[in-house]
Amino acid sequence: MRRRSIVGNWKMNGGLATLAELDGIAAAAGAAPDVDVAVAVPATLIAPAHARIPTLAIGAEDVHEADHGAHTGCLSAAMVKEAGASFTIVGHSERRGDQHETSHDAFMKAAAAHRHGLGVILCVGELQAERDAGRAERVVQAQIEKSLPDDAHADWLTLAYEPRWAIGTGRTPTLDDIATMHAIARAKLRQMVGDTALAMRILYGGSVTADNAARIMAVDNVDGALVGGASLTAAKFAPIIAAAHRGA
Ligand code: PGA
Repeated sequence: MRRRSIVGNWKMNGGLATLAELDGIAAAAGAAPDVDVAVAVPATLIAPAHARIPTLAIGAEDVHEADHGAHTGCLSAAMVKEAGASFTIVGHSERRGDQHETSHDAFMKAAAAHRHGLGVILCVGELQAERDAGRAERVVQAQIEKSLPDDAHADWLTLAYEPRWAIGTGRTPTLDDIATMHAIARAKLRQMVGDTALAMRILYGGSVTADNAARIMAVDNVDGALVGGASLTAAKFAPIIAAAHRGA
């Protein structure tokens, strides 16, 4: 059975004062030993977050594809690792939207992260217009095809299906639609990397809250959640971690 994974994504939120939230998040993680809990934080908070709670997996929200060089404003995988990150998100919807990143960019970033020993959370998901046009399945299959590294392995890569219209909107797909999309993602992974895909975790992301987390995680092939807004406070995030806990 795949271990469940609950990952927070603080995006461009928080500061040193917010790090106290990690105390409650770590406590919730301690009460759910069968769940892998992690939080991706703004780069400025990676080192202090890691120093505050060394046992909690702290991640970056993005890395550059190159190891070093003339890339003003960017951070390499080695840099965020040195700061204390153990993983990074790549291909997030907001990077695809705001920074016009492509699936090929996500592929290059995932490879760079793996080269430096970081875990990778690779995000895919369709736009509302693509879903309306009946293209959601093909879009997600193509994103996986173009962004999954050839040597992707469950030990270091987690896929996150995040319909882009569900992120930060309070809207979620139906449970049937989540089941369909996760089954399609699983099949695509299996086609590309074989049976190791059965061990890979596929997270759902997009407006996950304490109210819907248990229902969503009960869906086949949903192995946890990538959580934005509801990960910013322990009060909202801890119940989601608890919902992932399968019991003693
Ligand atoms: P949300 O964000 O939970 O605020 O919808 C999810 C994400 O972007 O990972």
